[in-house]
Amino acid sequence: MQDPYTPNTAEIINVKKQTLDTKTYTIHFVKKQKKFKAMPGQFIMVSIPGIGEAPFSLSSSPDAMGSFDTTIRTVGNVTGVLNRYGVGTRLGVRGPYGKPWPVKEAKRKDILLVAGGIGLAPLRPVITTIQQNRKAYGNLEILYGARTPSDEVFADEYEEWRRIPKTKLFLTVDSVPTGVTWPHKKGVVTGLFDDMETSPENSVVMTCGPEIMMRFVIRGLLARNFRKGQIYVSLERRMKCGMGHCGHCQIGEKFVCRDGPVFTYLDLEGLPDLTL
Ligand SMILES: Cc1cc2nc3c(=O)[nH]c(=O)nc-3n(C[C@H](O)[C@H](O)[C@H](O)COP(=O)(O)OP(=O)(O)OC[C@H]3O[C@@H](n4cnc5c(N)ncnc54)[C@H](O)[C@@H]3O)c2cc1C
Ligand code: FES
Repeated sequence: MQDPYTPNTAEIINVKKQTLDTKTYTIHFVKKQKKFKAMPGQFIMVSIPGIGEAPFSLSSSPDAMGSFDTTIRTVGNVTGVLNRYGVGTRLGVRGPYGKPWPVKEAKRKDILLVAGGIGLAPLRPVITTIQQNRKAYGNLEILYGARTPSDEVFADEYEEWRRIPKTKLFLTVDSVPTGVTWPHKKGVVTGLFDDMETSPENSVVMTCGPEIMMRFVIRGLLARNFRKGQIYVSLERRMKCGMGHCGHCQIGEKFVCRDGPVFTYLDLEGLPDLTL
């Protein structure tokens, strides 16, 4: 049996620039490609020999051949080296790990996605899952906020998302540089609550972004009578093992890697060291 810490060799087969500091890598395993399956919201551990290992969400579901996307923002050591990698580079990948978004529980319900910045990445496979199984779900509303128009990820996919039946996409940015035309809202993502139609009845909310953003999203939703158990958030914590062994990602009695990264707000309420 393979040691669970030993990564499988994977290869970058495409790189797409999203913003100045963010790229989407399409990756496949060198062996056993077809066997790789993952649910929206799950993550992988990517390792670079001599540098380190870091968790990243899948930003697409694996295709029939096992290839998948992950969208990565450069912030430090591992991501800095990844940023220099191109097609053909080999990496170590283990996983998938973690609890997914509630795409099964959300069937026949309306779905509200609220994302900030790169937080749209783990929600992208939710959008494509709904697109591919459109009749199984109710209305879809996507609220997305970025710092500036050029910080939006997946911007070239928005028109296609808007064409998904019974789907609305609302955009906002914190600020617009002089000379840039911006036909959408300005301000924080919760400002988009004024435009949304999703109500607490028979709906599920999934949110991902900076913790401070999610805090205001949760407050705004609770004020609109959404229930704690229907609001799902995806958390980020420093990780080592990714599978519930080392305690590195622990918050209270929860391990983010094993019990999350997707939690309902009901599961998290009252835990220490959370800004939600
Ligand atoms: C479940 C999960 C899914 C994630 N998905 C994505 C994703 O899809 N795309 C993406 O770009 N990033 C994602 N991240 C964050 C990513 O893991 C970190 O950016 C990465 O570990 C940074 O590694 P580094 O070696 O480049 O940075 P380091 O050199 O280790 O650190 C650089 C800076 O980033 C901070 N930092 C590092 N890791 C984290 C973290 N987990 N949370 C907050 N701050 C951190 C450090 O404090 C430091 O300030 C995810 C994290 C988790 C836990
Ligand atoms: S990263 Fe080891 S327990 Fe979560």
